[in-house]
Amino acid sequence: MNKGLKKFKKKIKEISMSDNKSEAKDKKKELKLDDLPGVGDATKSKLKSAGITSIRALALYPISKLQDEVGIGEKTSIKIVKAAQEIEKMGFKSAELIWEKRRDLKRITTGSNNLDELFGGGLETGAVIELFGEYRTGKTQIAHQLCVNSQLPYESGGLEGAALYVDTEGTFRPERIINMSEGLDLDYGEVLKNIVVGRAYNSDHQVLLIKESPKIIEEKNIKVVIVDSIITHFRSEYVGRGTLATRQQLLNSHIHDLLRLSETFEELCVLFTNQVSAKPDVFYGNPLTHTGGNIIAHGSTIRVYLRKGKGEQRVAKIIDAPHLPESDAVFTITDDGIRD
Ligand SMILES: Nc1ncnc2c1ncn2[C@@H]1O[C@H](COP(=O)(O)OP(=O)(O)O)[C@@H](O)[C@H]1O
Ligand SMILES: [Mg+2]
Repeated sequence: MNKGLKKFKKKIKEISMSDNKSEAKDKKKELKLDDLPGVGDATKSKLKSAGITSIRALALYPISKLQDEVGIGEKTSIKIVKAAQEIEKMGFKSAELIWEKRRDLKRITTGSNNLDELFGGGLETGAVIELFGEYRTGKTQIAHQLCVNSQLPYESGGLEGAALYVDTEGTFRPERIINMSEGLDLDYGEVLKNIVVGRAYNSDHQVLLIKESPKIIEEKNIKVVIVDSIITHFRSEYVGRGTLATRQQLLNSHIHDLLRLSETFEELCVLFTNQVSAKPDVFYGNPLTHTGGNIIAHGSTIRVYLRKGKGEQRVAKIIDAPHLPESDAVFTITDDGIRD
């Protein structure tokens, strides 16, 4: 083992052994990328340009990507990721510890009690949520509502933070943000200021926007990240059977970038929308299913299917969640936003 790494491990051990647990936690939080053995200025700037600005972000980054995409040598990649994982305690943990974390998990309200209940008390942070459904089922409306609600105080179901919106279909509307803000008696000028919108013009651009997002998430205290919709560009750019494998590979990598965001930043809710294809496609069994196939099904943590009910009513159904039953909830889209 290299000398720098040994010294570093000793330092980490000393911090961990401290009797004062919260002090030890704070000390670890204070550690910066520069403190890792093997991270010099050149490596640091490479990491930064890939959006890796914290030890946690590095600990969660796949080593192969560090080499192939960030351009860091094999040895250094292994060394710095291992050192980062040492700090982040990425080995086994007790279920009790996991429960403590989940119990204290922050949640964000959707604006509808029925919907919140369906999600077990609002949308959870630290997870990737997928909303899929046909046109006009309320996917974009919910996405807008979350951008407003994230700014609410914790006691009102908010996360006291800003929102980042990747708009791939050109359907982001400040007008709706204004309506929704007024529906909550919020100053819409302030609310608009706290929503960062990236219009993605093609799939590469969409992927790039998410790769660049960590810096903004840190700087602007972002608590909600939206991609609306994840599939539109991929679907129009990769047509025909021959391109399917490439498309799925890119989509897979993009969704993993989203997953990594939700795991890297505290109290971050990540949500993407997805279309359903009503006509039978070559690669799916169910004719009315979300697009993207298994890649997407396995990428998101919680999947919700939206469909139209009577009038402005919509029905949400949890399709696949590790801890939630498959049940339904009815909500309405009003001028003020999402309500029961
Ligand atoms: N100002 C508004 N007041 C009431 N309902 C609205 C308003 N704006 C949009 N809606 C409703 O939202 C629906 C569109 O939902 P949207 O989230 O854009 O669908 P999608 O699932 O395709 O993203 C419209 O059909 C309409 O019923
Ligand atoms: Mg939409």
